[in-house]
Amino acid sequence: MNEQERINALTAPLMAWYDLNQRALPWRGVGDPYRVWVSEIMLQQTRVQAVLGYYARFMAELPDVYALAQVSGERLNKLWEGLGYYSRARNLKRAAQVLVNEYGGEFPRTREELMRLPGVGDYTASAIASIAFGEVEPAVDGNLLRVAARVGGIAEDIMDAKVRRRFREMLAESIDRSRPGEWNQAMMDLGATVCLPNGAPLCEKCPARAFCAAYRNGMTDLLPLRAPKKARRVEERTVFLLLQNGKVALRKRPAKGLLAGLWELPNVPGSLDEAGAAITLAQWGLRAVSLAPVGAAKHIFTHVEWDMHGYLAEVEGENDEFFRADAAALQAAAIPSAFRYYYDMARQALAAQQGGCDNGTALL
Ligand code: ADE
Repeated sequence: MNEQERINALTAPLMAWYDLNQRALPWRGVGDPYRVWVSEIMLQQTRVQAVLGYYARFMAELPDVYALAQVSGERLNKLWEGLGYYSRARNLKRAAQVLVNEYGGEFPRTREELMRLPGVGDYTASAIASIAFGEVEPAVDGNLLRVAARVGGIAEDIMDAKVRRRFREMLAESIDRSRPGEWNQAMMDLGATVCLPNGAPLCEKCPARAFCAAYRNGMTDLLPLRAPKKARRVEERTVFLLLQNGKVALRKRPAKGLLAGLWELPNVPGSLDEAGAAITLAQWGLRAVSLAPVGAAKHIFTHVEWDMHGYLAEVEGENDEFFRADAAALQAAAIPSAFRYYYDMARQALAAQQGGCDNGTALL
């Protein structure tokens, strides 16, 4: 069997396997393109388990494109808080506005038209077109690439655009033409639950075992082939928990770039000692009544890693750049997980100042 024949051979046993083993997921079997779209955007770079709670809260509050088109940026960021890649949420809202204003609230039904919506690339457009509208298009994500590379025994770099096009063509030939959306999701489920990445695939449970080239040749550890990633840049930062009259200072991040438009605890590049921290406060027009280090935390983004040190300071003075949040405002603001360690500390510090009430409501 050649590569294509092996990949083609998977389709029938895959669909039989899927009929018995598919995961029960809340966006499946509903036939609503809005739900398919939101779930696919949330699932980009994100595991199903991490998405489920976000998806349920999102749908309860924003059940259709009209609700999404009108939601405030602040509320949308809050619904997305902790999920990462926040530009996905901004693009969802922009696309909802396009759907309402230009498409009468209906989704276009083809991959090609769907790809004109903000935030909808080849993968997402193919997933929506196949799952919601039955278009015969493979939704080529990491799962499909891994399964195809192993079953076909294809030792080519899956990060290379030309190689990906070749995989796409092979998968387009093998897709189940009568059930394209289910075939895509079957491939995703196989990749997520059986043909696992990083070492330990469960080949004894796999419908491709009889003809999978990687299994036969003991190559599941080697495939898929991936050119080494560039090392992440490491950035040291100093984060400030600035307390003043029972409130903590928050700052809005710039409208462009990493974590655009979200709230943050004020922070600066570099690992400052106490003298450096006091100077930074002075530059902000503040003076520390007390200043103490509060430990280190790390956050890994796609292209950069933040190594953070923090200071807790009671301060005096004014700075128009900062918003001063009480416990309730802190609770309502969307603050990215990068600041989780310091955010929790800020909540505790405010609660301690209020005499131990940490439920976000004012004491009457
Ligand atoms: N990952 C991305 N999309 C998915 C889907 N529809 N089902 C399961 N896993 C997925």
